Amino acid sequence: MCQAVLPAHAGPRGELGAGPLLRWMDAAACLAAEKHAGVSCVTASMDDIQFEEAARVGQIIAIRTKVNRAFKTSMEVGIKVTVQDVLTNAEKIVSVAYATYVAKPVGAAKVELKPVELLSTEDHLEHSLAIERRRIRLGYVQVFQKLMQESNKEGDFYAGEEKDAVSTEHTHVQSTELVLPPHANHHGNTFGGQIMAWMQTVASISASRLCRSHPILKSVNMFKFWGPSFVGDRLVFNAIVNNTFHNSVEVGVRVEAYNCEEWIKDQPRHINSAFLIFNAVNDKGELLTFPRVKPMTQDGVRRYHGAIARRRIRLTRKCILSAKEDQPSDAWETSNQAYLSYSNIAALTHLARKPGWDITKTLDNVKIWTHEEGAVLSFKVEMQVKVPSHVAFSLLSDFSLRQRWDRHFLTCEVLQAVSEEEKIYHITSAPMTGQQPRDFVILVSQRQPCRPQEPYTVAVRSVTLKAMPPLPEFCRSEILCAGFQIYSNSSSSCTVCYFNQVTSGVMPYLAANLTGSSKSIEDTALECIKFLELKDREC
Ligand code: COA
Ligand code: ADP
Repeated sequence: MCQAVLPAHAGPRGELGAGPLLRWMDAAACLAAEKHAGVSCVTASMDDIQFEEAARVGQIIAIRTKVNRAFKTSMEVGIKVTVQDVLTNAEKIVSVAYATYVAKPVGAAKVELKPVELLSTEDHLEHSLAIERRRIRLGYVQVFQKLMQESNKEGDFYAGEEKDAVSTEHTHVQSTELVLPPHANHHGNTFGGQIMAWMQTVASISASRLCRSHPILKSVNMFKFWGPSFVGDRLVFNAIVNNTFHNSVEVGVRVEAYNCEEWIKDQPRHINSAFLIFNAVNDKGELLTFPRVKPMTQDGVRRYHGAIARRRIRLTRKCILSAKEDQPSDAWETSNQAYLSYSNIAALTHLARKPGWDITKTLDNVKIWTHEEGAVLSFKVEMQVKVPSHVAFSLLSDFSLRQRWDRHFLTCEVLQAVSEEEKIYHITSAPMTGQQPRDFVILVSQRQPCRPQEPYTVAVRSVTLKAMPPLPEFCRSEILCAGFQIYSNSSSSCTVCYFNQVTSGVMPYLAANLTGSSKSIEDTALECIKFLELKDREC
């Protein structure tokens, strides 16, 4: 979808308003969903949306949408928004977002969707990652509740002692909208994007009461449309500032729908709640500081803490997804567990799908590949194994068995069995000549394939755990990205690919090998095959 930004789309600062943009994003994403489903679809939820760049009147907005993956009745649609300058042709990213749509033919039950056809490498990548993002979105509420419980337990309640704090009460805004045909699709179902646009209008008024300026929408927290609304419904929007954080403010909006009868009986349907984050700038474009706020009611205090928990999740997500290799590994905490698991699987999936792998060595049943990108060296060991893929997966995902075939592993202890699919291990490994022994704290995330042609995945990355600080007798080392992908070849054989992105900690083991003077990688691979085939025979 291409849209020219006209004065009617702009706010008081001459920049494209978030309202029209959210409407276009939803409309373009819904078209992609309906193109795949072949029936009408409704917006079920929107993941976190961040706005990176402002668009001005006269510029062109391009919105590209694609169904990344169809689940059962729902599908994930990727939305990429860019802004193009007409004079220079320069194109910048405004936002990359993901939304979920559910196929819902009018008057009929939900329909089961066909899988999407994957054509490019990017299609495959997005398809693999979509299932990971789905985990995050479906688990978001639990993570939030856990954080709130933790903060209650820690006695982390609002003390109300801050001097100069401003009451949130005067930021309350209520607005009512009547849903008319232009706000709805051809079945009379209100567009999700229209509701988002109305929400941002009330939220922006609420934020402006604190900053006395025109607030700029920076992000919208993940949210779900709980139920539909229709032409003729009255939608009541209630917004209030929940909390402020130096240069930003969180405004919450609750949307309730009434038809005529419900309106008279005062029986609202709660259809949606969302949390929007705004900045504000002065004439010179410098960020303004928001005053601290004090909630005046019990609900206000709960929401004040809710905003802190949401901010924690938002920031840890940002840190993990933008992590650089020279930074220490992320700490394993309630607020970021879902994103750490995501980044673990995502990093391995990205690495495996990178173009430009060069074959370095070919043996009978082992191939070694390398990949160089700037200062980062990665290697892949491809092994043909005569065991069923599920057996290889179960043996390779249990790291306590690894010492049996990998002589670099000295000890391996489970520190936390987080779930069936996530475990944290402490591993010690043999010292190189003249060096201290090394240890690692790693997160192992294992996933079974959803479809026969997909691989089993065992992803590994370092994490930091409070309970296991660096020990004096070991040199703490980091694993950036490593793990296995296991593809089934037949009912009794599979291809196991082991990947490792090499950091300075692992380099000494490999440097010699890659120049051909050591056989450590091949030997380990052969040991691995022997171990898997022997174990399979024993079973
Ligand atoms: N994010 C993403 N997907 C979600 C979700 C969330 N927060 N909650 C549920 N889903 C998915 C489920 O996983 C399921 O997917 P699957 O069939 O592919 O496995 C699908 O949605 C249906 O879930 P289910 O629990 O069976 O249905 P539901 O009763 O929760 O209904 C909607 C889901 C979206 C149809 C319903 O909530 C609705 O009608 N919402 C309003 C939609 C709308 O009108 N939007 C426009 C603005 S009003
Ligand atoms: P929660 O109270 O748990 O945050 P709700 O769905 O009730 O969840 O509300 C979402 C947000 O909408 C609140 O955080 C608050 O910012 C705003 N809100 C809800 N009810 C009102 C109200 N009556 N007046 C003003 N704002 C409200």
